[in-house]
Amino acid sequence: MPLKHVALTTELYDYVVAHGTPPDAVLQEIEERTKEFGHYQIMQCVPEQGALLHMLTKLVGARKAIEVGTFTGYSSVCIGRGLPKDGQLLCCDVSEEWTRVARDAWEKAGLTDRIQLALGPALETLRSLPQEADVDIAFLDADKLNYWAYFEELLLRVRPNGLIIIDNTLFQGEVINPDTEHESARLVHAFNERLAADQRVEVVMLPIHDGVTLARKLL
Ligand SMILES: C[S@@+](CC[C@H](N)C(=O)[O-])C[C@H]1O[C@@H](n2cnc3c(N)ncnc32)[C@H](O)[C@@H]1O
Repeated sequence: MPLKHVALTTELYDYVVAHGTPPDAVLQEIEERTKEFGHYQIMQCVPEQGALLHMLTKLVGARKAIEVGTFTGYSSVCIGRGLPKDGQLLCCDVSEEWTRVARDAWEKAGLTDRIQLALGPALETLRSLPQEADVDIAFLDADKLNYWAYFEELLLRVRPNGLIIIDNTLFQGEVINPDTEHESARLVHAFNERLAADQRVEVVMLPIHDGVTLARKLL
């Protein structure tokens, strides 16, 4: 049986990245400043994923968005730029230090009126929000231990046909390794299994970067 999909070698993935819209100066500066955080820079959203987030925000026609896990702001700038001028993005993170870079970027991108930062455990922030199901798009990119709890809180607040985007769902390819030493990979695998069987959403996994899953809330 011939393969029906293209196996992504590093060279081919580089080709994919090289043929998408490149990041602008604001996003490049975030990348530069994020390098100051040493090995933590691996947490930053990559350009092709940022471009996807921006496009999805536009396509959904989003006015209201939530991000769980903001770090130095790359993904928040991409989502924020996809919103209309009166749109709203709530960013959840625990780090004052990392989100300082994000705040600077929001200023440079002219997004300060559209983005609000909630510093503190994201689960508490989410639970404090009204359950009005008026959020158009949400991006989940924080600690894996709470992934399912975040997803449940987001699903209560996302409108029917709205989108929840989940990052790192391939977890360095470790999700298919039953002997993995990565606790987070086991948690993400359990999350993926549960999500695929969830009747409340339609699910598509994309092999972009570390794996990006789209979950569309059904009516
Ligand atoms: C992978 S990074 C987010 C990357 C970001 N989306 C970007 O575009 O670069 C994960 C972030 O989640 C935050 N985080 C971890 N645990 C958290 C929690 N319990 N509540 C809120 N934020 C948390 C970390 O401080 C970190 O900034």
